[in-house]
Amino acid sequence: MEKYMIGGVHALELTEKYGSPIYVYDTETIKRKFFLLKKAFSKIPHRIHYAVKANEAPEILMLMKDLGAGLDTVSPNEIRRALKLGFKVTDIIFTPSCPAINEIKFALENGIRIHFGESEYFEELGDLLKGVEVGLRINPDVHIEGNQKIATAHADSKFGIPLNQLPAVKQMEEKFGFKVVTLHIHTGSDVKTWQDLAKSFDSLLLQLPAFNNVNSLDIGSGLKVKYNATDHEIDLDAYTKYIKDKLENLGKSINIILEPGKFLVAEAGTLLASVNVIKQGYNKRFVGLNTGSNHLIRPMYYEAYHHIINISNMDGKMHIYDVVGQLCEEDTLASERALCEVRAGDILAIQNTGAYGYSMASFYNLRDKPRQILVENSAHRLISEDMVVI
Ligand SMILES: Cc1ncc(COP(=O)(O)O)c(C=O)c1O
Repeated sequence: MEKYMIGGVHALELTEKYGSPIYVYDTETIKRKFFLLKKAFSKIPHRIHYAVKANEAPEILMLMKDLGAGLDTVSPNEIRRALKLGFKVTDIIFTPSCPAINEIKFALENGIRIHFGESEYFEELGDLLKGVEVGLRINPDVHIEGNQKIATAHADSKFGIPLNQLPAVKQMEEKFGFKVVTLHIHTGSDVKTWQDLAKSFDSLLLQLPAFNNVNSLDIGSGLKVKYNATDHEIDLDAYTKYIKDKLENLGKSINIILEPGKFLVAEAGTLLASVNVIKQGYNKRFVGLNTGSNHLIRPMYYEAYHHIINISNMDGKMHIYDVVGQLCEEDTLASERALCEVRAGDILAIQNTGAYGYSMASFYNLRDKPRQILVENSAHRLISEDMVVI
């Protein structure tokens, strides 16, 4: 029978050794994606700040550090973890959403660059901002195709400072003596076309003349990954050519900041889960797994598609199933999915789960989180084991 391999390791050996469910990460895939992105941006002055929220495992953050990336953080604990791992303060960006004022003060005290998504904090911070370099996350009211739950730059999104507030921010910049050095936009996650990202980039360029001190544009992320055979990845070459051409015509030197999460780690992760039961419903045949939305919330939260393979029976006859979790919820991971015949005890590989998988997992129903395993140079090791405290 064909063997399902992850980073040179037979996946079924991993479930034999570590049990299931487990998240398995292949470091080679992360490196490959990182260098792909670096290559695409090679003609543009840029810095990659990996979005910690996608997968905050210290081993993955250390890999990013070794590759030369900085970090994009959204909470004080993400900052603390980055500092503990030896990232320099200048390697860290803080892009919070509606933070508590103390969280902003924490970042300021530690000298971390803040990208403000709300103008309401400036008055309250007042003199604390004197001489501080900041970024502004703007909301340019850009509409994108695709899943609206992860579209973050349209007028009704909570994210970013509306354009009509920027003149007032300009006045506060003078009044309190801070310096806006970066303009920032994050259009959404998994944006369908590079042209939608380009619209956001253009909206940053339009604001440039109003802010003389700006030396970098943070274009966030939204870099699409391929979730199945017929899906597509972002056209990086077209996107970077567009950015390069626009920057060349600016007559001013500008650095680009990128904050990819999914693009770097999604494909590196696989959730391996075992089949508790095959259950016949009125109309459907269910595969009941020993995992669920408590470990992988994306299908229920975002209607995300994750490709699934029965790695215990890779040559079996195809049947149609609904793959469900074991929560007291309708936690469907895949519906009407063709899989090689599934039997109780089989192991299923749920692919592309390296981003927003474990990082969004919970202890719901008092179930343990999956163990996390890192595969590196065909060797593997346990990197986390997070059990319920009874
Ligand atoms: C501000 C910001 N930057 C970067 C990211 C990472 O996005 P992605 O995982 O789609 O690359 C996010 C995701 O939510 C974000 O909110």
